[in-house]
Amino acid sequence: MAVDLLLGLQWGDEGKGKIVDVLTRNYDIIARFQGGPNAGHTLIFDGTKHVLHTIPSGIFHKTALNVVGNGVVIDPVIFKKELENLDKHNIDYTSNLLISRKAHLILPTHRLLDAASETSKGKAKIGSTLKGIGPTYMDKTGRNGMRVGDLELDNWKERYDSLTEKHLKMLNFFDVQIDYDLKELEAEFLNGVKKLKTLQFIDSEEFLNSAIKEGKSILAEGAQGSLLDIDFGTYPFVTSSNTTAAGACTGLGIAPNRIGDVFGIFKAYTTRVGSGPFPTELFDEDGATMAKVGHEFGATTGRPRRCGWLDLVALKYAVDVNGVTQLMMMKGDVLSGFNTLKICTSYNYKGEEISHLPYNIEPENVSVNYTEFKGWKDDLTKMTSANELPQNLMDYVAFIEKETGVPVKIVSVGPDRKQTILR
Ligand code: IMP
Repeated sequence: MAVDLLLGLQWGDEGKGKIVDVLTRNYDIIARFQGGPNAGHTLIFDGTKHVLHTIPSGIFHKTALNVVGNGVVIDPVIFKKELENLDKHNIDYTSNLLISRKAHLILPTHRLLDAASETSKGKAKIGSTLKGIGPTYMDKTGRNGMRVGDLELDNWKERYDSLTEKHLKMLNFFDVQIDYDLKELEAEFLNGVKKLKTLQFIDSEEFLNSAIKEGKSILAEGAQGSLLDIDFGTYPFVTSSNTTAAGACTGLGIAPNRIGDVFGIFKAYTTRVGSGPFPTELFDEDGATMAKVGHEFGATTGRPRRCGWLDLVALKYAVDVNGVTQLMMMKGDVLSGFNTLKICTSYNYKGEEISHLPYNIEPENVSVNYTEFKGWKDDLTKMTSANELPQNLMDYVAFIEKETGVPVKIVSVGPDRKQTILR
């Protein structure tokens, strides 16, 4: 059976958590393939809001198994808090949450290095969530990292101590003051490890490939968005993993010829949190309205998100890089009330009008051209079927489908699981 992928096509925060939750009933296994607690996947159902950072969004369904894949980085401290939140809602994760032995661990000193690196960058800072993501992936590729499987070794604490010592020396290279209490951080970490060790550690690539052979259905869940991909994103203002479809292969040990559908999630407009170029960013009333109506604040850091019109140039790029087979449009309801809507259909770049994403998209290199659409006034949030959607919205969707060549299969009209229109 093929493995389907679900990933974000913009700069993250597209609403992946909600769609995984909606789709989970169709799958036996939900597997997270990259990123770590920099992610914040929000799910709302039965009047309660849940935010997951590392745990796959299938955890609220009794029938699904949830796998944290080898490509993910885990902070035991944050993981423990996530588990405690599940405890509060009586969600039993003892038998349906499985952790790859090959997933890397975020140490407290990774977080300190992240903070020191960002502070030392001054104005050029990336706007990292400061969860230690970059330094942990650096240790992974530098072949110094600690993995979940190491926790099963008798000498894991010695390994931890020696890596921590190395990190403390590295911290001295940064010419910045970072205040910390290592003892306190370490106590928290050890508590987190204790909790993590109560879960089942697995050889996830073997587990998933056996599941495929047995005919089980798998949904691979991505984090962040394609424009934050370490290779294809707006480097250096990106995260440190492959957020695109290829990341599911390396982050789970699944071969490319096992991939079936690729679900690409995008917002009806665009948001970005943190620094970096954003050609369609709005600094006017329209942007402020999107931020207010869309509650555009980061689920992990609470930072306000920057808002702008939909960028079709960037969306088409993400559709290509990921091989998207179905699109899902989120937050259509947030655009209700605008007289005119705009979609960026080309860039002006080095004296030419282009419709592909060039190497440089900073404001000094790129300006945007828009196609305008008539807005709609209807409140979409109570709508339950596609034939209730206003014609102007359908025109907006049809244009996106024509330009990308991919059908929009879901239009989301609110944060709740129920506010999801299938087409
Ligand atoms: P880091 O991955 O925490 O180092 O952050 C690198 C960049 O990616 C920053 O601009 C963050 O704001 C952004 N980022 C990381 N994770 C997310 C996410 O889940 N949603 C949106 N932006 C993110």
